[in-house]
Amino acid sequence: MMTKGSNTALVCVAAVLLRWCVSLHPYSGQGKPPMYGDYEAQRHWQEVTVNLPVAEWYVNTTDNDLQYWGLDYPPLTAYHSYLCGLAARRVNASFVALHESRGYESETHKLFMRYTVLVADLLVYLPAAYCLMSVLAKWRAGRLEFVCLLLYPGLYLVDYGHFQYNNVSLGLFVMAVAALTSGRDCIGAVLFCLALNYKQMELYHALPFFFYLLGTCFRQGGVLGLLWKMTKLGCCVVLTFSAVWLPFASNATVLSQALRRLFPFERGLFEDKVASVWCSLSVFVKLKTLVDNRNMALICLLSTVVCMLPSSLHLVARPTLRHLRYALLNASLVFFLFSYHVHEKTILLAAVPACMLVSEEPFMTTWFLTVSTASLLPLMIQDGLTLPLLALGVLFMALTHHYILPSTEKVAKRTRMWVWMRRTYFLSVAGLAFLTAATLFVQPPDRLPDLFPVLLAIYCCGHFVFFCLYFHYCQFTLKYNNNNNNSAVSNNNNAKKHVQRK
Ligand SMILES: *[C@@H]1O[C@H](CO)[C@@H](O)[C@H](O)[C@H]1NC(C)=O
Ligand SMILES: *[C@@H]1O[C@H](CO)[C@@H](O)[C@H](O)[C@H]1NC(C)=O
Repeated sequence: MMTKGSNTALVCVAAVLLRWCVSLHPYSGQGKPPMYGDYEAQRHWQEVTVNLPVAEWYVNTTDNDLQYWGLDYPPLTAYHSYLCGLAARRVNASFVALHESRGYESETHKLFMRYTVLVADLLVYLPAAYCLMSVLAKWRAGRLEFVCLLLYPGLYLVDYGHFQYNNVSLGLFVMAVAALTSGRDCIGAVLFCLALNYKQMELYHALPFFFYLLGTCFRQGGVLGLLWKMTKLGCCVVLTFSAVWLPFASNATVLSQALRRLFPFERGLFEDKVASVWCSLSVFVKLKTLVDNRNMALICLLSTVVCMLPSSLHLVARPTLRHLRYALLNASLVFFLFSYHVHEKTILLAAVPACMLVSEEPFMTTWFLTVSTASLLPLMIQDGLTLPLLALGVLFMALTHHYILPSTEKVAKRTRMWVWMRRTYFLSVAGLAFLTAATLFVQPPDRLPDLFPVLLAIYCCGHFVFFCLYFHYCQFTLKYNNNNNNSAVSNNNNAKKHVQRK
């Protein structure tokens, strides 16, 4: 008989195996001078950080041309690049030689870079998923979340194929949620600040964290309790930020340069064909010519804030861990749909909170995860990763179909709503399959070369709007129990509840 431990080990082995299979495929910008892609960006940051003093990392100098992949992530990314750069120099100094190594590519180097992602996964992401599983185990949940976090294909297609280190920031984020779930709010705040200082995109999750902690502060009983907890949390946040930014603090211009690099307003509303509201709208209304960048950024900010309010305010009033996880998913969906400078990869920030909800909403989250994987298609075609995307997408659907749809079906056979939802699911997947096939095999008309990727983006955007509304509905109708621990995860049959609510 299989024990729980050996099951966990098997899932880990499968996760590593799948990741390593993806890593054999090309990366973004492979053999495409002069700019290459994200792989070269990461390599270039290693080159810059090991060769230049800290004060010059974010500054345009003769040795650091910011127009060629200048650092535009917060310091933790830079420190990570520095460590990888030190390792690279030991393997072969020509990997990171200043100026000379631009566009460096070789089989050995690819292997080295892939190993750095694997190390980050083994040190941060896997332990984070494991921590989440163990803290959720108290409420007889967490195993599905663990499997889903490890096997959701979008994340490792981007990290091991396209090439990035999303696993670090998302791993820190998952660990922060695990810390909050086990009642260690200060550690959670510190971990979240670290995630935010690795990639500023973690701002997507910042509001739910903030409002959850604020809500728990108000529940301390008495003004003194409130003040004490607020002071504690404030100290954690300030100390973490200070520690991370300390090396840059010597000089105000260095600091302001670094900050300006993190929020690049000149880069435009969206990149390529992304399934956000603005990109879909711009098919019908030429937003980019109608409104200038600065005003557009304002419009994005306003619409994001307005759409964020309902779920955030609800979270302050009901700061339980279940509400938090729904709010995290809702916030990241709203950000993805409405914010400025969105990229296809950004959907990962919504996918990871969705993985953390899979035992609450098995059907809807896996549907969402499937659509989010498909929305990566144009990016993957660019990088030569179509085959792994299709294979892993089908594998993921088969897995979730086997484990999730039949088990909930038994309970749900009676409700008409459920039958209707299942039909919609199959229709939606058929639509995805059709658009994917069209993107890959049908010659578009000459006037509209991007016809099918744009249709796919609009199709996915429609889904994301629907999921956003649905998960908002879920958050607002969750039963509220003042005792935080009991309401953290429902411990009776989730599937049954899931259906009754409809
Ligand atoms: C940065 O420096 C490079 C030369 O080192 C120059 O070509 C480029 O225009 C500079 N960029 C900015 C934004 O000043
Ligand atoms: C390092 O890389 C250079 C350039 O690709 C190559 O000629 C050299 O043999 C490599 N050195 C080692 C020790 O592998």
